[in-house]
Amino acid sequence: MSTGRPGLTRRRLLQGAAAAPLLAALPRAGLAASDGPIREYRLRAAPASVRLAAPPFPPSALWCYGGATPGPELRLRHGERLRVVLENGLDELTAVHWHGVRVPNEMDGISFLTQPPVEPGQQFVYEFEPPDAGTFWYHSHENAPVQQGRGLHGVIVVEERDPPRVDRDLVWSLDDWRLDRDAQIVDDFDSALDYSRAGRIGNTVTLNGRTSPELPVRAGERIRLRVVNSANARIFQLRFQGHQPTVIALDGQPVEPFQEPSLTLAPAQRADLVIDMSGRPGERFAVIDTFYGQNPFRVAELAYSEEPPLRESPLDAPIALAPVALPEPVLDDRSLTKEVLLEGGDLGRLRKAYVDGRQRGLSELILDGKFWAVCGVAGFRQVMPPFITAERGRTVVLRLLNRTAWPHTIHTHGHSFRIVSRHGREPDRAVWRDTVWLEPEEDTVVAFVADNPGDWLLHCHMLSHAYAGMQATFRVT
Ligand code: C2O
Ligand code: CU
Repeated sequence: MSTGRPGLTRRRLLQGAAAAPLLAALPRAGLAASDGPIREYRLRAAPASVRLAAPPFPPSALWCYGGATPGPELRLRHGERLRVVLENGLDELTAVHWHGVRVPNEMDGISFLTQPPVEPGQQFVYEFEPPDAGTFWYHSHENAPVQQGRGLHGVIVVEERDPPRVDRDLVWSLDDWRLDRDAQIVDDFDSALDYSRAGRIGNTVTLNGRTSPELPVRAGERIRLRVVNSANARIFQLRFQGHQPTVIALDGQPVEPFQEPSLTLAPAQRADLVIDMSGRPGERFAVIDTFYGQNPFRVAELAYSEEPPLRESPLDAPIALAPVALPEPVLDDRSLTKEVLLEGGDLGRLRKAYVDGRQRGLSELILDGKFWAVCGVAGFRQVMPPFITAERGRTVVLRLLNRTAWPHTIHTHGHSFRIVSRHGREPDRAVWRDTVWLEPEEDTVVAFVADNPGDWLLHCHMLSHAYAGMQATFRVT
């Protein structure tokens, strides 16, 4: 995959092709603590022309990292440091967020909250050592509905030091686009309907930037598939015809392996799957999405080669990942409990909310493009007083109350959480997540240990919702 190339000069490193991973045994500049090697990438955010749909459709005008969507796969080993030089080739401000990676606050990529935005033509250097192995992703968090929606995202893979044995380890980045007849992005990112309802849902689904691609497979092989939902608002429910994937991680954190007939991924959620290719040479199987039942479509196709099976019976090797090193929340009378009221949207009951310190009525909110509120506040850019402040080490319990007619996917920055209950019931299995999907009117309780100091965002990952008010900050001191 990637080759160690000590001896590259810094200049060469910076000039390296964006997609070429460059491992440099550079000493860590300035900062103390880790002695792990540094893996350095250059990400240039800029307009690019990319073919999403097969001819006769022309290429689409997108915004990309490194000229492609998803952007370059950032792959490193657990224990290595990641350094990314972001170059802003857009005509507007930008910044990159490392979704799910428990980075130090100043590396979180939130303009005005954790860093100054990166001006057009300028650079920003991110550097951190991911504390967890797993599947994560990166995306623009500035003007996110537009920037992420036009293609600015990619996947980060932090490989375990001792990964389960598989024949191939692949990434599937799912995305959803609203394209016109010429395969160009419909520029209605300001649609009030999208803001106030289910978010910007498109008409074209891609996997690794292509509609309905074929995955060539060989009978008998074992594949680890890292699936990422990079869409603005679309929820996926994948079914693998003729195959039975085993889930080994969710949102980058290991779970006790389990199987389910379908895999539901809300925006920003990830799952690591292990799939034994149990078909016969020459067979083909569809992977379909059935979430919006009236309109199932083919996401991909598994295409078996004519080669004889790699092995006759499935690999007999363990697939469970080592348990997680996250601090376990303790729910007792010392934990800090907060009701997080989510309100607004079409058919909602929101009548007034604070914006930027001042209370406004519904019509003023709507004129201002604010349709949602968290705890009575419609998030305004990233500058909001924290809705909760926790001393470091304290267990935080958030009772997420979805008092709206729409689904939401709530994401916490800097922390992964346990799901304590959904609809008042304990979940079937213990999971860590960084993004949780709430159905309309659903309540979900989550808990985490506030162990990462700083001001962090909590927001809906249906990006039009976040942009239209469903975002808040919490503080860890
Ligand atoms: Cu995917 Cu606020 O992030
Ligand atoms: Cu939402």
